[in-house]
Amino acid sequence: TKVPKLYQPLKIRNVTIKNRIWVSPMCMYSAKDGFANDFHLVHLGQFALHGAGLVMMEATGVSPNGRITPGCTGIWKDEHIPQLQKITNFIHSQESVAAIQIAHAGRKASTNQPWTITSPDKNKADTDKGGWPEDIVAPSAISYDKNHWTPKELTIQQIQDIKNDFINAAKRADQAGFDVIEIHGAHGYLISEFLSPVSNFRTDQYGGKSLENRARLLVEIVQGIRKVIPQTKPLFVRLSCTEWVESTNEVPTGGNTIKDTIEISKILAQEGVDLIDCSSGGNHPNQKISPGPGYQVFLSDELRQANPQVLTGAVGIIVNGKQANQIVEEGKADAVFIGRQFLRDPTFALNAAEDLDLFVKWPSQYTFGRKKRTSKT
Ligand code: FNR
Repeated sequence: TKVPKLYQPLKIRNVTIKNRIWVSPMCMYSAKDGFANDFHLVHLGQFALHGAGLVMMEATGVSPNGRITPGCTGIWKDEHIPQLQKITNFIHSQESVAAIQIAHAGRKASTNQPWTITSPDKNKADTDKGGWPEDIVAPSAISYDKNHWTPKELTIQQIQDIKNDFINAAKRADQAGFDVIEIHGAHGYLISEFLSPVSNFRTDQYGGKSLENRARLLVEIVQGIRKVIPQTKPLFVRLSCTEWVESTNEVPTGGNTIKDTIEISKILAQEGVDLIDCSSGGNHPNQKISPGPGYQVFLSDELRQANPQVLTGAVGIIVNGKQANQIVEEGKADAVFIGRQFLRDPTFALNAAEDLDLFVKWPSQYTFGRKKRTSKT
């Protein structure tokens, strides 16, 4: 019998990923001064041990002020590399692919670890909590809402510096052994703020009404990264494919829609981006989202149909093997990213195979715990 698509390998450039069930990037808020530690090693390692084809490390700051919280991981100095190398070595030892999301939080930076936020007004991290309220930056000097800091508008020189921070971060990620690099261009963080008409009111070449201008920073980052990482390594971009913000008096332009994102994806594909990780929202408090099973899959589907030059990943409330497999079998995505289900069940990639009556190899050390083989596949 045929191997379900979810468990068929996917080759991108020179990297072969053994299946299409991947760990979505998830902040753990457990680093100090950007340094990952053994929490991150065990946390990410467990997914590789239990059969995930690709394990993506959380949004990792390209600069100290680009972190979301003081506990976020970073990759702005060479000293960060050795622990990251330890993580990628382990992931590789389990025949899984190591990926990292590099990020700048923009105007959503300097917030507290979520589990310490007892009410919305406790969101902002002040200096006594390790925050950096004086150093918040964005395309325009407008805060997300009253529970986020008001950013300073970036100068052209500062935009060039941030571009270099991303490029240097990608270089370090390559040195640390990551096989795949993803640029975080979603959820209302810096690149997403640049892309969107609801947060980018600049009048220079990096902003304004033109989508090409708003995408310029991302495109230049992609071009720069492509020059410093091997041609053999895949480059992904996560985008908020729709912002779920309609045009109103308060927000006359409305947010970006899947149409805008398709245009952006065409430019990105030409510049050497291999996969768009199709998420949504996060850039405006007026967003209207109704989350439910697979609620973002249509974005990946539409983008994949409209732009065959890139692969896509689907994400969002994908919680069982049959659902995950159907998404890739129906051609709505090339792979699925799983977030919270992996937190609930780190063995999800093995259990999802069981749901599909598929025999997948368990780690040798664990085979004594495996149920008897139930199918011929
Ligand atoms: C996230 N998410 C997220 N997204 C991202 O692009 N970078 C990140 O670092 C994080 N961090 C993060 C932390 C935690 C604790 C959660 C729960 C989520 C979003 C995540 O990758 C995913 O897109 C969503 O959670 C939706 O997928 P699930 O969880 O429904 O499978």
